[in-house]
Amino acid sequence: MTQVPLISPLKAPLKGTIRVPGDKSISHRAILFSAMAEGVSEVKGVLDSDDVRSSLAAIQALGAQANLTKAEDGSLEGTIKGWGAKGPTEPSGPIDCGNSGTTARLLMGILAPWDICVTLTGDDSLKKRPMRRITAPLMKMGAHFEPAEGQNLPLKVCGSSKLQGIRYEAPMASAQLKTAVLLAGIFAEGKTALIEPSPSRNHTELMLPEFGIPTTAANCTAEVQGGSIPQAASILVPGDPSSAAFIACAALLKPGSEVCIENVSLNTARIGFTRTLERMGADITIVRTGASGKEPVGNISVRYTPGLRGCEIPADKIAGLVDEIPVLSLVAAHAKGITVFREVSELRVKESNRLAAIIEGLSQLGVDAWEDGNDLYIEGNPNLKNTSHLFFTAHDDHRLAMTWALVGLCGNKPVIIPDFSSVTISYPNFLSDVMRLGK
Ligand code: S3P
Repeated sequence: MTQVPLISPLKAPLKGTIRVPGDKSISHRAILFSAMAEGVSEVKGVLDSDDVRSSLAAIQALGAQANLTKAEDGSLEGTIKGWGAKGPTEPSGPIDCGNSGTTARLLMGILAPWDICVTLTGDDSLKKRPMRRITAPLMKMGAHFEPAEGQNLPLKVCGSSKLQGIRYEAPMASAQLKTAVLLAGIFAEGKTALIEPSPSRNHTELMLPEFGIPTTAANCTAEVQGGSIPQAASILVPGDPSSAAFIACAALLKPGSEVCIENVSLNTARIGFTRTLERMGADITIVRTGASGKEPVGNISVRYTPGLRGCEIPADKIAGLVDEIPVLSLVAAHAKGITVFREVSELRVKESNRLAAIIEGLSQLGVDAWEDGNDLYIEGNPNLKNTSHLFFTAHDDHRLAMTWALVGLCGNKPVIIPDFSSVTISYPNFLSDVMRLGK
């Protein structure tokens, strides 16, 4: 459907059942790991979005053969024949990772063990994002980058078939960093271990064994043993909890709403937002219905709850809800009291500077929000109303576009978001999905 920058209030509360598209993190991994594997993998439920298309185009440029078609539910499904033991082929030009940090960073780990040179680049946002966190451990393992001191894309990855396993203490909890190091470690000599300050999402540790790569994870330490080639697998991608969070929060912002989001990944490293909403007093229920591979899957039901209260989210819980902080901040703006997100410096280096953008957007609504050191404070107002047409810039950031869209959809005046079309990064049908529930 066409994306419009003017977003008007829903006519009715959100009611009913919905399935959100496939998980973005798991979709990237399904595509990238299949490309690395020997043989033909089958993937199903893959998110069809700009970010995932960046990973798909990248593996094709590197020699994997993907045959994916659109399923009835809008997801991608089909087969991917990986390059396996023979490795990726050097592409004729740079690989454009678009807006996708996951594509760029995971590719660095994937390319590091092969004797080829590949230039990775991206859009203006991705070119600003820090890459040193990935290149530093990969250089310790034996890969090279040009320029060697480069902090940002474009960067040329010059791999080496003689990588050494490492034990690396990550300076921040980042699943992209962890995954890049583990993927390089599969082909390195000996064992590779990655230690994190707090737990980040663990889809890689859960999915690598499906590809025949023994991986252990405990106490913030993930390990792979080098020396075996991934073998083709069959991966079913569950719904994206990060997309579900927007529907859940919409239901909490629009009086009278009651929704059930089905078939969502209930991976505890991803559903921290449900715990935060519960602590705010929200009526939210989680029911496990099964599993997709090692990913627990189930339904999240949310009922509009008046009288939400602010709460404090400690530093060690941030990684489990990092992508949901924009929309949680909007809910916090409607809650009684102060909400504090501790140690959220990572928000400054997402698709935009989300810390600054949240404060800027909430101030448009007349809400006091501020940063103190690396903490984000929001002083909520249970009587908050948007009384005029507001204009929000999403900084070309999909999660900000959806957050500010909820101000219009669940409030009483339309909002204008000129760069709303950035939702195609993770949830292309976001607007029509919310409008269907609220008509
Ligand atoms: C992701 C990890 C997170 C998250 C991003 C997706 C992944 O980033 O914010 O949207 O798929 O591994 P960091 O690894 O930088 O925390």
